[in-house]
Amino acid sequence: MLSKNIESALNKQIRIEAESSQTYLSMACWAEVQGLEGIAQFMYTQSDEERAHMLKLVKYVNERGGHAQVTDLKAPKTTYSTFKEMFEELYNHELFVSQSINELVHITFEERDYASHNFLQWYVSEQIEEEATAKSILDKINLIGDDKGGLYLFDRDIQQLTVTSSIAINPK
Ligand code: FEO
Repeated sequence: MLSKNIESALNKQIRIEAESSQTYLSMACWAEVQGLEGIAQFMYTQSDEERAHMLKLVKYVNERGGHAQVTDLKAPKTTYSTFKEMFEELYNHELFVSQSINELVHITFEERDYASHNFLQWYVSEQIEEEATAKSILDKINLIGDDKGGLYLFDRDIQQLTVTSSIAINPK
């Protein structure tokens, strides 16, 4: 059984994951209308992953005697001045999510809720991966600079990254 405090902290995280999903969906739309197909696909996949993160929390809260809350969400921004700015926001957003997960882990430890503490370890590992992916994408973008040919290749490469990561998520 979840304590009220942990239930509410988990619900806060549900909202953050839902907002992350909306944010990446909005980034996908912007990239798509710019003709950046590969980047758009990457963002659509990211958005789906965030929804999966949210659902995993929803199920956990409901299974442990809590009540997962589906709430209104903060609307994400819809335009970006450059795709570099967009990926910087993605990276900073993931740092924010990691911090939020860390705080959540801390609360479960303080309350000696070892089941929730154990459940959240999956999110801790996931955040390490998400931060690393976002960072390596940003490094690539910094290498490209303003080179249009570089952007074309980057857009193609990132599509490959999407295929690889969706194989990693859904191994046959
Ligand atoms: Fe669910 Fe990207 O954090």
